[in-house]
Amino acid sequence: MLKLIPQPQKIEKLSDETFSITTITLGKNDLSNNAVEDFLSFCSLPASETENIIFISDCSLCEEEYSIETGKEIKILSNSASGQLYALQTLKQIIFQCKDNIPHIRITDKPAYKFRGFMLDVGRYFFSVDDVKKIINRMVLHKLNVLHLHLTEDQGWRVEIEKYPLLTKIGSERKKTNFNHKPHGGFYTKQDIKEIVDYAHSFSIKVMPEFDIPGHSRAAIASYNDLTCFPRPLPVADHWGVKHDVLCVGKESTIQFVYDVLDEFFEMFPDEYIHIGGDEVPKHRWDLCPACNAKREELGLKTSDALQFWFMNQIKDYCKEHGKQAFMWSWELEDDSLLDTDLGFTKCGDMDTKNRPFIDTSTKANYIDLPYGYISLKDTANHKVYSGNALGVEAALWTEYVPHMKKADIMSFPRTGCIAETGWNGNCSWDSFSNKLNYYYSYLDKNNIKYAKPNKANSNKLRAKLSILLFERRQLAWEGLHNIFDDKKIEKLAKQNR
Ligand code: ACM
Ligand code: ZN
Repeated sequence: MLKLIPQPQKIEKLSDETFSITTITLGKNDLSNNAVEDFLSFCSLPASETENIIFISDCSLCEEEYSIETGKEIKILSNSASGQLYALQTLKQIIFQCKDNIPHIRITDKPAYKFRGFMLDVGRYFFSVDDVKKIINRMVLHKLNVLHLHLTEDQGWRVEIEKYPLLTKIGSERKKTNFNHKPHGGFYTKQDIKEIVDYAHSFSIKVMPEFDIPGHSRAAIASYNDLTCFPRPLPVADHWGVKHDVLCVGKESTIQFVYDVLDEFFEMFPDEYIHIGGDEVPKHRWDLCPACNAKREELGLKTSDALQFWFMNQIKDYCKEHGKQAFMWSWELEDDSLLDTDLGFTKCGDMDTKNRPFIDTSTKANYIDLPYGYISLKDTANHKVYSGNALGVEAALWTEYVPHMKKADIMSFPRTGCIAETGWNGNCSWDSFSNKLNYYYSYLDKNNIKYAKPNKANSNKLRAKLSILLFERRQLAWEGLHNIFDDKKIEKLAKQNR
């Protein structure tokens, strides 16, 4: 029985005949050179004298839709390069499983959701352009179509901004990491970003950059101290945990900084999505800051939380004026009534968001950096997309504990297989996915992708507890203390300034 991930919408058996493929030549198509090269090198078969994979254009199909009919020739119907690309991804899996014994079938297939994302946090750990291309290759195999790059963090600023050169000169390096005392750093030049975006586009993948504001901004503040409420020298963060120094939104100069950075983002990233963060914004400084308080009163707002929502709405409007759909994290939000409904969410929990567009990034299923003891493969498989105006799903790989590609792979796979299946098919479940798991492991092996083995992916209770304990112990070691000392200093400073 043929096994495919993500599960196609429909597979029909046409007869009992079978076929073998020993040579391949692609017919005329709209695919990029990268996509063709990727397919041919995967199949590793000699060229046939005549074209035996034929592409037929069918304008009744939707953009990403395709159908494949196997036979002596293989016929692919589609209406776009992305449909052709997805047909080839399915065909790779068919050829891998039954090269000499291909069943006579017709597959008709299209995605349930238009947004099928993978987030890579390059802020905590920098990933090279080659690593990002590897992530893109993994996305292609899973028919994912949005690469969400989390580019700015407390621990590192990762993208060249011409107007503010210190962001990368100072902000891209930290003195040490949690685990060793070696410095860590890196950033993408504009040329690197172009290389990533072009590569992604050649596989029908859009790139959604994230500028995480007004929190998670310590690398920017370390580069330009005036961006915070109480300017003083602050290093790029070298340990994890939520930082209390965030952007001061009471100062016009900060708002201008944000617009300037966005202008360069818009030039570098031509696709329609942008992420503006909005998560984990403690209000310790804003509550004491003369500029933030003056701004809040001028706007007639009662709380610093309301001031943040005003800020998010403003930035969303600026993105919208530039043709972008902006998203923010719904992280820890209990009430979204002050946020404009055209500001999308990457939605972390099951709150009521009415008609607001969102991407499902459930912390109970799709936060694939969390230990398998927290989120088992079974949990990811059984997660149902939150109800409401879901545009799609996203696997979120934060990298506090993911310093390199090998760990990235082990945390991402096999869970990303389930997220891709939900995004493409609309549904996944442990019942259906578990039947395909051995096949999936063999396909990951074939593609040189590391993964968590079954006893880790669905750990027993003891193993799950141990993985959680280890994770919590590391978290505990770093949160809290430094903030307490810092808060005391600022309270004193605020009093003196009054
Ligand atoms: C988040 O997990 N900080 C969005
Ligand atoms: Zn302020």
